[in-house]
Amino acid sequence: MAKPIRIGIIGSGGIAHAHIRQYKQIADVEIVAVADVIPGKAQQFVESLSLTDAQAFDSHRAMLELDLDGVSICTPNVSHHVTTVDALRAGKQVLLEKPMSVTLDEAIDMVQASKETGNMLTIGFQPRYDPNMKLVGDIVQSGKLGKVYYVETGGGRRRGMPGGTFISKALAGAGAMADIGCYSLDMALNALGYPRPLTVSAFTSNHFGTNPIHHPQASQFEVEDFGVALVRFENDLVLQFKISWAMHMDTLGSTMFLGSEGGLKVNPFGKGNWSGVWDGKVGDITLFHDFMGQQTSTPVPGIEHDKDLFFEKVRDFVDAVREGRPAPIPGEQILIQQAIIDGVLRSAEQRREVEIKLPY
Ligand SMILES: NC(=O)c1ccc[n+]([C@@H]2O[C@H](COP(=O)([O-])OP(=O)(O)OC[C@H]3O[C@@H](n4cnc5c(N)ncnc54)[C@H](O)[C@@H]3O)[C@@H](O)[C@H]2O)c1
Repeated sequence: MAKPIRIGIIGSGGIAHAHIRQYKQIADVEIVAVADVIPGKAQQFVESLSLTDAQAFDSHRAMLELDLDGVSICTPNVSHHVTTVDALRAGKQVLLEKPMSVTLDEAIDMVQASKETGNMLTIGFQPRYDPNMKLVGDIVQSGKLGKVYYVETGGGRRRGMPGGTFISKALAGAGAMADIGCYSLDMALNALGYPRPLTVSAFTSNHFGTNPIHHPQASQFEVEDFGVALVRFENDLVLQFKISWAMHMDTLGSTMFLGSEGGLKVNPFGKGNWSGVWDGKVGDITLFHDFMGQQTSTPVPGIEHDKDLFFEKVRDFVDAVREGRPAPIPGEQILIQQAIIDGVLRSAEQRREVEIKLPY
């Protein structure tokens, strides 16, 4: 019989429940520990989910003294850095919730800890497990579009602002740009092969979050609910991305890749207030090109599937731990989009274009 994989969970809030649900469906996985900084919260979590074999801790450092194979990090964004570095340095493999971090310096430190210890740091972008996401990447990488020079991505909820830890600067660090913007960025950058960003010019606002008509915690709303950025990359490529948690509009448009030989339009899956932000599946895909002198647009048949994307991300992490494989979605790669988010926050604050300096 295979040796069980021993898992610990850091942060016992909303998304930790989703992690537990997936781990429970995977053979030979034991949830042996849960930690939360709020005294008694982990204990309550363990009891409410009948995790009879799990120990509860009020400190992640105490939990990390246990013999664990892997940890899921499910804390608010600002705590991703300290918990990840501590877990990696304590010899654990890490599945970290998105966004990777708030600042670029934090992301650099996290990747450094993974490199120095040889322990895995994978970032939980479940949309990567939609085969249609891979299809988009394959088309962009195939050369069919020629030289790709402009990409537009992002999306918006007409109304879909979270509350609690997500709107606190001290806990979330950033708002919509990091929370759902990270999905749009991953969708586009992954298809492009994660090119090197050079500069970013961004604008953010929070007219909805700070208005008590629109948000019940308006007086505590400290982050952006809208943002737009123009990012310049090496090799004459620019990307515009825009995000809203709330707006007076139905959509912020499709994702599009413009190339010298063709264009690709990709719609997000689903409709409604909470859709269209690339946190789920890919919708319709259309290829625009000229054929025998005619301007044509061709629907690209999507790949039918019934995958549960969140389950796939957790299972892939467990399999990678079991098989000693490298990180499925490596921190090293996501560091590049973290550099962009860091640039967005700096640029919006300084009201001017800023440079992005990658460590390597
Ligand atoms: N992948 C997805 O679909 C998805 C969905 C929702 C949230 N998330 C991400 O998951 C993270 C958590 O979101 P949430 O909705 O569960 O938040 P939450 O506020 O409901 O829960 C976070 C928990 O972490 C605890 N915590 C904070 N610092 C800690 C520390 N140092 N050690 C241990 N516990 C600590 C808090 O007390 C809280 O109980 C966020 O980064 C968010 O972006 C991902």
